[in-house]
Amino acid sequence: MAAAAAAAASGSQALLLCALLLQLRPSSGYSEIPTAVNITWSSINFKTVLEWEPKPSNYFYTVEIDGPSDRKKACIHFARTECDVTYLLENPKDTYTARILSETPLMDNGDSDHPPYATSPTFIPYVQTMIGMPTIKKFEQKNDILKIVVEDPLTPYRFKNSSFKTIRDIFKDELEYTLYYWKDKSTGRKEAKTRSNEFTVNIDKGKNYCFYVQAFILSRTENRKGEKSFDKCTTVDKASLDDFELEGMLVIGAAAVGVFILFIISCVVVYKCKKFKAAEREKENAPLNA
Ligand SMILES: *[C@@H]1O[C@H](CO)[C@@H](O)[C@H](O)[C@H]1NC(C)=O
Ligand SMILES: *[C@@H]1O[C@H](CO)[C@@H](O)[C@H](O)[C@H]1NC(C)=O
Repeated sequence: MAAAAAAAASGSQALLLCALLLQLRPSSGYSEIPTAVNITWSSINFKTVLEWEPKPSNYFYTVEIDGPSDRKKACIHFARTECDVTYLLENPKDTYTARILSETPLMDNGDSDHPPYATSPTFIPYVQTMIGMPTIKKFEQKNDILKIVVEDPLTPYRFKNSSFKTIRDIFKDELEYTLYYWKDKSTGRKEAKTRSNEFTVNIDKGKNYCFYVQAFILSRTENRKGEKSFDKCTTVDKASLDDFELEGMLVIGAAAVGVFILFIISCVVVYKCKKFKAAEREKENAPLNA
C-alpha cells in the first residue's frame, strides 16, 4: 500500500514537472501553433498544388520541398492553405516530399529556432499526376472510314525555346490513346487504341457516329486512365453519300420542284377561269339591271 502511494506520489510529481515544463515552453513561441494536417497533392498534367488544413490565424505557413538532392522553399510566410509547387518539381521522375512549417509573425529565423512542421506523403509526378482531357483536333468521315486526330494535353514544363511540353514529350511511347465510338443513337460501343495521335477506323457508310478519346499510361499500375475528352458526333454530308443515294435524292428533289410548279400553274388557271366566268355572268346580268 505504502509503495503504491509513493509511486502515485512520484507519478503526480512527474506530472507536475511536465506541467511546469509545458508552462515554460510558450516562451519559445511555437508550442501553441497548430501544424498542418490532411496534406494532399493535387496534380493534373504536371501542374501540382499542395493543399492542407487548417486555415491559419495569428501564424503563417512556409512550404519546403525536399527533392533527391536539395530543399527549396515556396509560399514563404503564407496565410493560405494551398501552394502551387509546380516549378519546384523539376524532374518528373524524382520523388518529392513537402514539409509545411507553422511560423509566428515574430519568429526568429536563426538555426536554433525550429518551427514545428508536418510532413506530406511522398509524390512522384511521373507516376501520380492525373492525365487531363485530350482535345479532338479534327475528325473526318469519308465513306466507311472515320479519321480522328487527337491533341496532347500541355504541361507547365517548357523546352529551352520556351514552348510548352506536351504529355507526349514526357511519357513518349508509354502514352496510348483509346477511342470509344458508337453509331449515333445505338448503345453498342467499340474501341480502338493508338500509340500515335491518329485513329483510322472502319464504320458503316452513311451513318452518323459519336466518339470520345481517353489517354492511357502503359507504365502505370494506378491512375492509368486520363480524363475523357468531350463527346463528338459526325454529321454525314453529301460527299459521303454514295452515288445511288445522291441520285435518288436528286430525283426526289426534281419531282418535288415539278409538283410545286404544277400546283402554282393550276392555281393560276383556276383563278383566271373563275374571274372569266364572273365577268361573263356580269355581262349577262347587265341589261336586266339597266
Ligand atoms: C481532415 O480530414 C478529415 C477527413 O476528411 C476531416 O474530418 C478533418 O476535419 C480534417 N481536419 C481538419 C483540421 O480540417
Ligand atoms: C521547341 O523545341 C521542341 C523540341 O526541341 C520542338 O519540338 C518544338 O517544335 C520547338 N518549338 C518552337 C516554337 O520552335
